[in-house]
Amino acid sequence: MKKLFALLLFCHVAFGVKHSLKYFLTATSGVPNFPEFAAAVVLDEAQVGYCDSIRTAEPKQDWVRKFIKDNPQHLEWHINQCSGNQQFFRANIDGLMERLNQTGGAHILQRMNGCEWDDETGDIRGFNQYGYDGEDFIALDLQTLTWIAPKPQAFITKLRWDTEKARLQFNKNFYIHECPKSLKMYVHYRKSFLQRTDLPSVSLLQKTASSPVTCHATGFYPDRADLSWTKDGEELHEDVDKGEILPNHDGSFQMSVDLNISSIAPEDWKRYRCVFQLSGVKDDIRTKLDKAAIRTNRGFPAGAVIGGVVVLLLLALCIAGLFIWRKKYNGTQQHKNSCPAFTFKADIYKNISSKL
Ligand SMILES: *[C@@H]1O[C@H](CO)[C@@H](O)[C@H](O)[C@H]1NC(C)=O
Ligand SMILES: *[C@@H]1O[C@H](CO)[C@@H](O)[C@H](O)[C@H]1NC(C)=O
Repeated sequence: MKKLFALLLFCHVAFGVKHSLKYFLTATSGVPNFPEFAAAVVLDEAQVGYCDSIRTAEPKQDWVRKFIKDNPQHLEWHINQCSGNQQFFRANIDGLMERLNQTGGAHILQRMNGCEWDDETGDIRGFNQYGYDGEDFIALDLQTLTWIAPKPQAFITKLRWDTEKARLQFNKNFYIHECPKSLKMYVHYRKSFLQRTDLPSVSLLQKTASSPVTCHATGFYPDRADLSWTKDGEELHEDVDKGEILPNHDGSFQMSVDLNISSIAPEDWKRYRCVFQLSGVKDDIRTKLDKAAIRTNRGFPAGAVIGGVVVLLLLALCIAGLFIWRKKYNGTQQHKNSCPAFTFKADIYKNISSKL
């Protein structure tokens, strides 16, 4: 088990100034308890999106969720790519099995494609390679714009694909322009997302007239924040019940702090403030304890919803991926242990027929 965790840790290691965007697609046949198709997008060795034959495309990190919120058409595009690729991969694994006289058993077809960008030198490298049953099947050589087939079984594919000039040009453009463009955009977006500060909305809530008054701040980022009650500007510790900082599903945070008002005389209310402070932000948000400002009839906001993570499935995919691509990466790949999850962008081939 320890080994599994070690492998998972490797999946998140980021390397220097070299950024990468990779799409991993996998189709399986005859593998029980495994989706027939799965795809993942991996940015700098961390999975940012996933879909499979059961689940539609979904973002995997907070900054991606925010990106999707700001660019809803982006998710839609990935959902389409996911289903389009699924058909392409299903058809191809069936076709390949037939061609190789494989009537049964477990088979797996994978593609890893994407690009790398060195943000210091500006160097760009694209790659697009297929594996079948754990071995290299065919790979695109972007220099010569031809396909390389290390195995005789793939030679027929190479011959066919080498004649598809429009698709080769399409590929070239994708790996030299489109992919690096997306990669840079993601890297910049993620950076600005992680460096931002968002102030919350603060509200006062109370269940009944005798309940404590809850000061609730939600939507702040990052989670280095404090929420407190003050009286005449001094922080109160008695009659105060401070909650923990909790994540919201959009990547922001929330927190609340209760003030027991049972011993506060009505004329003293104006001396109390709820104060929100965010690390790195000079101005506090001060909210006066004021009956008129308290929301009473709506109850409390729902607790933080933390998106469920299907750890086991991903673990299985990651391990399977490592196993299958291990050979390929040995010696040739810099990031030997990068987690080969499975991609969802990218069917760059969707409009161009390309039977394996
Ligand atoms: C598949 O089977 C056919 C007929 O038995 C044979 O002619 C062909 O060479 C086989 N192909 C492979 C890849 O084994
Ligand atoms: C509020 O304070 C009063 C008196 O100090 C105490 O009796 C009561 O239990 C407290 N309420 C809560 C919810 O802590």
